[in-house]
Amino acid sequence: MFQHHPSFDRHKLVTARHDDASGLSAIIAVHDDSRGPAIGGCRISPYATPDAALNDVLRLSRGMTYKTAIADIPYGGGKAVIIADPRTDKTRALLEAMGDFVESLNGVYITSFDSGSTLDDVRTIGTRTRFSAGTLPEAGDASQSTAEGVFVCMRAAAELALGRPTLEGCRVAVQGVGNVGGRLVRLLADAGAQIWVADANETLAREVAAETGAALCGIDEVHRIDADIFSPNALGAVLNERSIPELRAKVVVGGANNQLATPDDDLRLRAAGITYCPDFLANAGGIVNLHYQRSTWAPARLAEHIEGLAATFREIFETAAKTGAGTGAIANAIAEDRIRAAGGQR
Ligand SMILES: NC(=O)c1ccc[n+]([C@@H]2O[C@H](COP(=O)([O-])OP(=O)(O)OC[C@H]3O[C@@H](n4cnc5c(N)ncnc54)[C@H](O)[C@@H]3O)[C@@H](O)[C@H]2O)c1
Repeated sequence: MFQHHPSFDRHKLVTARHDDASGLSAIIAVHDDSRGPAIGGCRISPYATPDAALNDVLRLSRGMTYKTAIADIPYGGGKAVIIADPRTDKTRALLEAMGDFVESLNGVYITSFDSGSTLDDVRTIGTRTRFSAGTLPEAGDASQSTAEGVFVCMRAAAELALGRPTLEGCRVAVQGVGNVGGRLVRLLADAGAQIWVADANETLAREVAAETGAALCGIDEVHRIDADIFSPNALGAVLNERSIPELRAKVVVGGANNQLATPDDDLRLRAAGITYCPDFLANAGGIVNLHYQRSTWAPARLAEHIEGLAATFREIFETAAKTGAGTGAIANAIAEDRIRAAGGQR
C-alpha cells in the first residue's frame, strides 16, 4: 500500500500503533536489516498530519541504513515517530506504551533517543522492552560521540581541502548549538578555532558564546559568514539552490541530518568548489557509540572507530578528486556496496 509514497524505498516493515488508554499514536519503520537489526531513535513531534509523520519515519529510517553501513557497524536502519507534543504530551504511560510497541517487534527494531525524546525517556521506554539503546551510565550522552565525529571529519576536510593540518585559527560558522553543535563548539574552541555561533534559541547561543569565546551571529546570516568552514547542526535541507551560492566557506561539515535539499545539491556544492562531508558520515559517531554500548563498552575502540569516520572521508575525497562525482553520491555507493555484500538489495 505504500509503494506510491514518494519516501517509500522498499522498506522492510512499516507498522503503526494507536493506543487510546495512553494516547500513543506511533509509527515504526524498518528500512533494511540485511546488515543487522534496524536501529534508530524515536522522534516525538506534534506532526501536523499523519502523512507528515509517515514521511518523516520513512525518510529517517532510510538514512539510518546508510549511516550504519558507512560507519560499518552490524545494524540496519530503522526509526520510530510518536505523534505528540514533547512539551505537553510526554507521559510515563505514553512512553511505556511505546516500549510495549517496540517489544512487540521482538528485536527487529532497536530504539533510542532523537529529537523530542531524552535519555530519561529511553530509560522509561526501556522498562518495557529489551530493545532500547543509549542509556549505559558509563557511556554518557552519545551526542558527545556525534560531536567528536563531526570534529574529526572537519579536521580531515580542513587538511584535504584547505591545506590546514589543524583547526587552529580556522574560521568556523556553526549553525545550531544544541546537543551536538554545543559540544562541537567546545571541541573547536579547545582546538583554537575562530568560531561564530547562531541558534534560534538566542539564550542558548549567548551561553555557548560566553563559555567558548565564540562570536554571535544571526540565524539568517550564519551560512553567509566569511568563514573557512560552515557547520550545520540544526535543520535539514540547509544546502539548497538558494543557500549554496551564498556560502563563502569552502568546506561544509556538520551534524544535522539530511543537509542536502535534493541530490542535485551534492554536485551543486562541487561545482561551487565547496568540499562537502556527507552528513550521514559526519554525524555517525552517536550511532557508533550505541553499538559499543550494546556490545562491549570500550572507550578506546570507540575513539578509534570515530577516527575511522575521518579515514572514510579521506577515501571519499580522493575518489571525488579522481572521478568528479559528488561526495554524497560516493558515500551512498560505499554504503550500498556494503548492504549488497550482506545480501541486501540497494
Ligand atoms: N544528537 C545526536 O547525537 C545526533 C546524531 C545524529 C544526527 N543528529 C542531528 O543533528 C541535528 C542536531 O541535533 P541535536 O541533538 O543537537 O538537536 P538539538 O535540538 O539539541 O539542537 C538543535 C539546535 O538547533 C537550533 N535551531 C533550530 N532551528 C534553527 C535555525 N533555523 N537556525 C539555527 N539554529 C536553529 C535549536 O534551537 C537547537 O538549539 C539534528 O538534525 C539531528 O537529527 C543528532
